[in-house]
Amino acid sequence: MSDKFVPQAFCIGQFSVLELKTASHKKLITGVVKIAHISDLHISGMQDRRQLGFLDRMLDHFNTEGYDHLVISGDLSNSANPADWKIIREKLVSHGLYQWERTTVIAGNHDLINLEEEMRFYNALNPLQRVRKKAFDRKVLEFCVFFQELITGEEQGNKAYPFIKIINYSSVKIAIAALNSVYPWYPADNPLGARGSISAGELRALSHAHALASLSDCFVIGLCHHAYKVYGTDSPIDQAFDWTMELKNRDEFLGVMKLIHARLVLHGHFHRFQSYGVNDITFINGGSFRYNPNCYSELLIEGMGSCTQKFITLPVKT
Ligand SMILES: [Fe+2]
Ligand SMILES: [Fe+2]
Repeated sequence: MSDKFVPQAFCIGQFSVLELKTASHKKLITGVVKIAHISDLHISGMQDRRQLGFLDRMLDHFNTEGYDHLVISGDLSNSANPADWKIIREKLVSHGLYQWERTTVIAGNHDLINLEEEMRFYNALNPLQRVRKKAFDRKVLEFCVFFQELITGEEQGNKAYPFIKIINYSSVKIAIAALNSVYPWYPADNPLGARGSISAGELRALSHAHALASLSDCFVIGLCHHAYKVYGTDSPIDQAFDWTMELKNRDEFLGVMKLIHARLVLHGHFHRFQSYGVNDITFINGGSFRYNPNCYSELLIEGMGSCTQKFITLPVKT
């Protein structure tokens, strides 16, 4: 983290709230905060050269266009391999984006669950659900510690979800409230590892009076990996697909997003670039960088009352 940006960190209950007091000089001129959002990179080793080339181009573009913050909403890696997290980290470092005030990342199911291992290996070795849950919790913590500089701003800290990141810009104070929606693999309840659920403890922590007080004067952006809405049609095929991908307790999640007065919720997982409204909240699906590495979501926030969002497509690289 640069000397200029020193976040003020404090913990509430089981989670951390970090606040950056310093506004960037550029904001004094424009007043508009520019946030870029990508998701579902599914990076799979250094041999994934073409995709990594696209990532270099996208990160270059974010710098050229003067984005203040980048959000990556999970599935950075394809098979929960920390070597792939490292590739992403090095890309962010090389583009000057591996800084707490510049980038926020969360984990997706592909960062925490290696389906093949679960089915072939862990299931046989760990027949007990609670043993597998403990292994899963260790993996969540491993991810958060790995990317700790982007989460709490600490190096080698041990904090995980939920976390709130507050950054003061001259025109607006933005809070990103992040929750883990990845649900452990279970043979009957989550056979593909793609269903989501947010723990009651995380939802409770974010509903705590201290959390609400810290968010009271902020433009609040919720963040999790899973979609609130998948297909939602009456077709049996769509419904079966929805079941494998859904956020199980989406209504409780929505209740907490309303409570914290989230204006936007960013997510990924369901590989579609889309935005949709639920009550007064706009959900933005960052799509999949894997399947369209030329597209991203742009948010322009100017003050508490003004936000515009659009998907931007870069010229196709041949
Ligand atoms: Fe994905
Ligand atoms: Fe996912």
